[in-house]
Amino acid sequence: MCGIVGYTGPREAYPIIIKGLKRLEYRGYDSTGVALQNGGLKVYKKKGKVADLEETLVGKNLHAHAGIGHTRWATHGEPSDLNAHPHRSSSGKLAMIHNGIIENYSQLKKELTNKGYQFSSETDTEVLLNFIEEIRNNNQCDLEEAVRIALKRVTGAYVILLLDEDKPETIIAARKGSPLVIGIGKGEHFLGSDASPMLEYTKEVVYVNDYELAIIKPDELILKNLGNEKITPYVQRLDLELAAIEKGGYEHFMLKEIFEQPQTIYDCLRGRLDATEGTITMSGIQQYAEQLVSANRIIMIACGTSWHAGLAAEYIFEELCRINVEVEYASEFRYRNPVINPGDVIIAISQSGETADTLVAIENAKSKGAIILGVVNVVGSSIARTSHGGAYTHAGPEIGVASTKAFTAQLAVLTMIALKIGYIKGTIPQQRYMHLLNELQEIPEKVAWVLKRSGHIKAVAEKYKDARDFLYLGRGYNFPVALEGALKLKEISYIHAEGYPAAEMKHGPIALVDEELPVVFVATKDSYHEKIVSNMQEIRARKGTVISVITEGDEVSTELSDDVMIVPEADEILAPMLSVVPLQLLAYYIGVAKGCDVDKPRNLAKSVTVE
Ligand code: M6R
Repeated sequence: MCGIVGYTGPREAYPIIIKGLKRLEYRGYDSTGVALQNGGLKVYKKKGKVADLEETLVGKNLHAHAGIGHTRWATHGEPSDLNAHPHRSSSGKLAMIHNGIIENYSQLKKELTNKGYQFSSETDTEVLLNFIEEIRNNNQCDLEEAVRIALKRVTGAYVILLLDEDKPETIIAARKGSPLVIGIGKGEHFLGSDASPMLEYTKEVVYVNDYELAIIKPDELILKNLGNEKITPYVQRLDLELAAIEKGGYEHFMLKEIFEQPQTIYDCLRGRLDATEGTITMSGIQQYAEQLVSANRIIMIACGTSWHAGLAAEYIFEELCRINVEVEYASEFRYRNPVINPGDVIIAISQSGETADTLVAIENAKSKGAIILGVVNVVGSSIARTSHGGAYTHAGPEIGVASTKAFTAQLAVLTMIALKIGYIKGTIPQQRYMHLLNELQEIPEKVAWVLKRSGHIKAVAEKYKDARDFLYLGRGYNFPVALEGALKLKEISYIHAEGYPAAEMKHGPIALVDEELPVVFVATKDSYHEKIVSNMQEIRARKGTVISVITEGDEVSTELSDDVMIVPEADEILAPMLSVVPLQLLAYYIGVAKGCDVDKPRNLAKSVTVE
């Protein structure tokens, strides 16, 4: 999973490409490279972040009107200068960047090695590039034709961008399974893994579909399928402003995104929830309301933080809709032979809409006849397009690798779906329904209340930043929040943290408890509260340190805790949208205090577009 950028047109290509790559670094930042049509093909690449490459290129003649750039998250071959993209073909005439994995690359490599090809990197990309060149030489065809023939032999996922020294204005692009957006300007074209590299130049974009190939020149965009038939590009207008993808005065994207949550949750509810009228309007769900109401089972499919949102939604759907819910890791679900019955509905949850495992899992389920509803943040993403219906979370671009605002927006959307279906089914009493609608409407304000106390959470973070391990415990609706809190801490600070259902603690993890172990309880006032208070006592009795997220005014928990982080009172169904916020901040401040790069944690990438 990598970020790719391309440009062809009258402007200087290099600054556009470098700026675009910086915006795409959330997708990978192991190594960086650019190829420019600068009186011949020039390739510059380096292990490290975009800024590292930029520094080495200061003072060089980088004048070019066409070029491609890549920021890498290593799959085949360690991060190194040699493995960085772009790669050059054996003749040196072609340069290519690639996002994805060529699964049958070793077979192709063997064929090419037998023909005398040598490789300078360990990447599957260099193999594919030489395979394309070999086809072009053998068949005496043009590059477009060679790409088409090669891709028919390839298994795996890819977006590729190719430059040919002899056609300095043209970029050839193709996609299967990884995202590609083409921005259309006046006499110029932009390419990116998402729309962020082209935002200040154009709002007109084309999302390239799987098995499509594009021939891009400054004033011409030709789109074809692999059968060489022309396709009319579907041009869409982006509803995204530049400010949304910049830090806006915050030290990190992660902090900005945590602080955006009152607004993002509000945006997510806006136009959908009407507490006065008692209505929830979600057109992409409405169409499938009948299937949801009569569903025997809902299967939530997701990964990471989105999986945690699904887990919280399981509790909510079961309570409000009385529907059996299963929550599946997409990576497991896709390789099982899951039983999908008529009447099952799949809800796929994904911030990026590009997570490979989730995408393949839903494609499998779709082929077995399931209805797929997507709860997705990125508009026009692959999962959004593959789903039959669904609802966008409208949280805006999430750039920080650790997911924060996407989680609360997912909870808001899933809660609205559950409320809508429960109401139609008659499984929520009218009074409770109205109460929840009113309370949901107040959540943005309550999140703002929590954020105002961030200074206190920073102080708590300072106190515990040197702990070696953390245990996070929660019950009921707050159990998924405990998992999410632990995940945030691991990702951002590299401190080992485990999330557990508080009652399960006695079945093993309690053995870890000593004076050194901070135990974070997610213990807001709910129907499990007395039970979790007992769990706190059990930790205290073993001299463990207790840090708690509690409801304002909870004196009992305060008494039992070494430190508390307070949230306002809320219905237990909605509490996760509040209780997760102090945990996001705790992880953030610990990560910063430890000097970690919180927006780009080691080994991670924002969207996992490979399996
Ligand atoms: O884009 P998605 O929501 O499908 O991504 C799923 C996970 O990769 C993602 O939530 C990941 O776990 C984050 N790094 C969590 O902060």
